[in-house]
Amino acid sequence: MHPQIPSVGDGMHRMDAALVRCDDVARTYGSGPGAVVAVHGLDCDVPPGARIAVVGPSGSGKSTLLHLMAGLDRPTAGTVSHPGLDGADAGALARHIGVVFQGPSLLPPLTVAENVALPLRIDGVPDTEADERAQVALARLGLADLVRRLPDELSAGQAQRVAVARVLARGPRLVLADEPTGQLDRSTGRQVLAVLLGAARELGAAVVVTTHDPRIAGELDVRWYMADGRLIRPEAGDGGDDRTGHPTDQRASGGEKT
Ligand SMILES: Nc1ncnc2c1ncn2[C@@H]1O[C@H](COP(=O)(O)OP(=O)(O)OP(=O)(O)O)[C@@H](O)[C@H]1O
Ligand SMILES: [Mg+2]
Repeated sequence: MHPQIPSVGDGMHRMDAALVRCDDVARTYGSGPGAVVAVHGLDCDVPPGARIAVVGPSGSGKSTLLHLMAGLDRPTAGTVSHPGLDGADAGALARHIGVVFQGPSLLPPLTVAENVALPLRIDGVPDTEADERAQVALARLGLADLVRRLPDELSAGQAQRVAVARVLARGPRLVLADEPTGQLDRSTGRQVLAVLLGAARELGAAVVVTTHDPRIAGELDVRWYMADGRLIRPEAGDGGDDRTGHPTDQRASGGEKT
């Protein structure tokens, strides 16, 4: 059994706690004169159910931030914590946090159905149940007809939808997607994002998406802007991106969702 949601006994504060919290987080690559500070002094929260776009120019630190949030990378200063998730070990994070990458990520020798079922099997889900959950996730993303195909036999948009299905089949509480539409044409990209957001909403999962595309960013509820490794808080009155309701609070938050 892998409980996905804190039990009633955990109390309401656990239910409301941020899925990811960054406190004065920095990540520096290398050392000495050639060191690159990819992210610095970053404070942010991702509350349950939030839908956040992280926008910024190339090299501004978006991927670095996402990897830190996922626990795929460690900060060189500050702390990244997951107060709203059960357990903080790598296994728990992998179960609760699904990551979608930009490029091809499916295993070429496995069929679509096998690709989606594999992480569940690795989690210890019995084969029959893993297969069923894979089918449900694929059907939710409109891929039921493609289950026996190999990744090479898919379009880029279909392959990315399979990658999304693979993440959602595990029932994550947080989906982190790093330019999930970056290699797709605009209309396919919007379709993939729409199914990702729709399926995440059904699951009640929070979503953080990095993107260069303002239209993609516009599909999410909140936008965080990055520049030179810093999270720039939206200015008041720029379209209501800041939903924290605390104008003096320097912490970026996904804002309260109702
Ligand atoms: N493994 C690494 N080694 C050294 N420097 C790195 C490494 N990864 C990233 N960087 C540097 O850190 C900074 C932030 O990179 P990051 O990939 O987070 O930016 P990004 O906003 O995701 O850019 P893009 O939009 O191009 O994907 C850049 O200056 C980049 O060159
Ligand atoms: Mg990037």
